[in-house]
Amino acid sequence: MRITLRVWRQKNADAKGKMAKYKLDDVEEDMSFLEMLDVLNEKLILQGEDPVSFDHDCREGICGSCAMVINGTPHGPQKNTTTCQLHMRHFKDGDTIDVEPWRARAFPVIKDLVTDRSAFDQIIQAGGYVSVNTGSAPEAHATPVDKVSADDAFDAATCIGCGACVAACPNGSSMLFTSAKVTHLGLLPQGQPERQTRAINMLAKQDELDFGGCTNVGACAEVCPKGIPLASISQLNHDVLGATLAGARAD
Ligand code: SF4
Ligand code: FES
Repeated sequence: MRITLRVWRQKNADAKGKMAKYKLDDVEEDMSFLEMLDVLNEKLILQGEDPVSFDHDCREGICGSCAMVINGTPHGPQKNTTTCQLHMRHFKDGDTIDVEPWRARAFPVIKDLVTDRSAFDQIIQAGGYVSVNTGSAPEAHATPVDKVSADDAFDAATCIGCGACVAACPNGSSMLFTSAKVTHLGLLPQGQPERQTRAINMLAKQDELDFGGCTNVGACAEVCPKGIPLASISQLNHDVLGATLAGARAD
């Protein structure tokens, strides 16, 4: 396949970025999107040019690091897929593809397609944990959890912290991410001691970190590679309401 790429190039956090055009003539449809970028980078290195910086690690849809906006959509055109799991067969010979970093106030660009997503770590630190001593690996079924709660908690736990939900949201809100963490822990017995303070502390932290508010647009759930549903946000709101009625306050 012949592909024209228009890639966001930005030398550092303070530099002004711009789109740069590159042509590739030897793209195979079975390549992943990241492998295609590897081909571009090999070519740039051989030409003595600076390769395009982008985050990646597992390349298996697990780690959440392959953050980039492809033709205006976080993680590209294929639904429920990370960029590393997107293949070039979803594009046509002769296509022009725009590749940009996440665009959100809370995720500033570090270089090219790499953004600083440490704000997510701070939200987790504000409440994404359990304080009970869970000891060593327990016997399966030692703590009874009903099937529906176990399944819902497991589904919420599949959030990989990629940040696509924030990048897709016109408000730059992190509600889907936060709600996945709150739902994951709040549905399990081990998560009950901090259930209310967890919700209000994580919400307060995301507000402090410049994420926008949620206005129920729903763009987040559309691009989430793990299919975290909007119902998670209802669960978060439910816990925040419970905390407020109980008189709990953010730390
Ligand atoms: S909720 Fe979905 S889109 Fe948002 S960080 Fe988690 S996996 Fe990524
Ligand atoms: S590189 Fe790990 S999810 Fe894409």
